[in-house]
Amino acid sequence: MLRFLTAGESHGRCMIAILEGMPAGLKIDLKEMNIELKRRQLGYGRGDRMKIEGDNVDILCGVKNGMTLGSPIGLYVKNSDFRIDDLITLTNPRPGHADLVGCLKYGHEDIRNVLERASARETVSRVAVGAVCKLFLEEFGISVLSEVLAIGGEKNKEKMNKKIDQARKNLDTVGGIFSLTAVGVPPGLGSYVAADRRLNARLAGVLSSIPAIKAVEFGLGTGYASAFGRAVHDAIYYSKDKGFYRKTNNAGGIEGGMSNGEPIVVRCTMKPIATVGKPLDSVDIVTKKSTKAAVERYDTCAVAAAGVVAESVMAFELSNAMVEKFGGDSMNEVKRNYKAYVKGIKT
Ligand SMILES: Cc1cc2nc3c(=O)[nH]c(=O)nc-3n(C[C@H](O)[C@H](O)[C@H](O)COP(=O)(O)O)c2cc1C
Repeated sequence: MLRFLTAGESHGRCMIAILEGMPAGLKIDLKEMNIELKRRQLGYGRGDRMKIEGDNVDILCGVKNGMTLGSPIGLYVKNSDFRIDDLITLTNPRPGHADLVGCLKYGHEDIRNVLERASARETVSRVAVGAVCKLFLEEFGISVLSEVLAIGGEKNKEKMNKKIDQARKNLDTVGGIFSLTAVGVPPGLGSYVAADRRLNARLAGVLSSIPAIKAVEFGLGTGYASAFGRAVHDAIYYSKDKGFYRKTNNAGGIEGGMSNGEPIVVRCTMKPIATVGKPLDSVDIVTKKSTKAAVERYDTCAVAAAGVVAESVMAFELSNAMVEKFGGDSMNEVKRNYKAYVKGIKT
């Protein structure tokens, strides 16, 4: 089993992660990993924080001479904007963020005590973990990629950027939709035998754990609601070189809680960023008087970046399912089992 934990505050010293369960003998390419971190910082509509943080990951442990040891991997990303102890107290929670409920739940009288951890800065740790997982998946010819499909209801690239410009001009924010596609996934990851082993459930869980993701759809998704069965279920074919295959992929590569060998296709909806330049009504958590919500530096739109985070958590969950299915102590062991299985299901 693969598992990870992250720690770190947005303006704290650093963001860290420990990834446990990665097999021994995986070649680690730090350059590739840092490309993933850079990709998380890009996208039209990002805020000034992205100009401050030149994210780079350091591997603190679990790797020797560029190869994983099978022991926990410690990942470290420095925060350039480290000033958590000097930041002023904030008592005006932002609607749409964790501020209010976080203060009620933990007994804080400074919303900063909540937002420092609730901030999507945390996702840099998840991208660092995902970058290791992407290297693992690459060894089996599996890749995961995201694409922005819509921003503020617009689907054309130019119009999407215009929506972001409009939001920025109005001191507002805007959300959207991105797709995620994993290709090269063998049939049989996940399982139908128990609810918590279903691959779709596991993917929906990790994808909706990304801040601001409000809907996750597989394949045809909500489109199934208005269709007849004969029109949407993917008929089954067989050829000697391909094995079993489909000519359509409305299922989005998952049937009965298992990957079916077709590309896994997911669509995620992101709500508009909660911090808005022209703040909404709020209430001071100490005085209980009406006020306006706090305004922190913010992204006008972060849909492309959320797509990169989603690639990372999907890469983690697919790696986890691979290790489960094919054994997880060394890369040689996983590869041997993988090859025998793939050969077996074709014949
Ligand atoms: C890549 C990324 C960047 C984000 N940037 C911001 C931001 O600059 N300001 C902000 O208020 N929220 C930002 N968010 C969204 C908040 O973290 C999110 O709205 C908040 O956690 C509440 O959403 P939830 O109810 O889904 O947890 C970002 C989210 C992601 C995935």
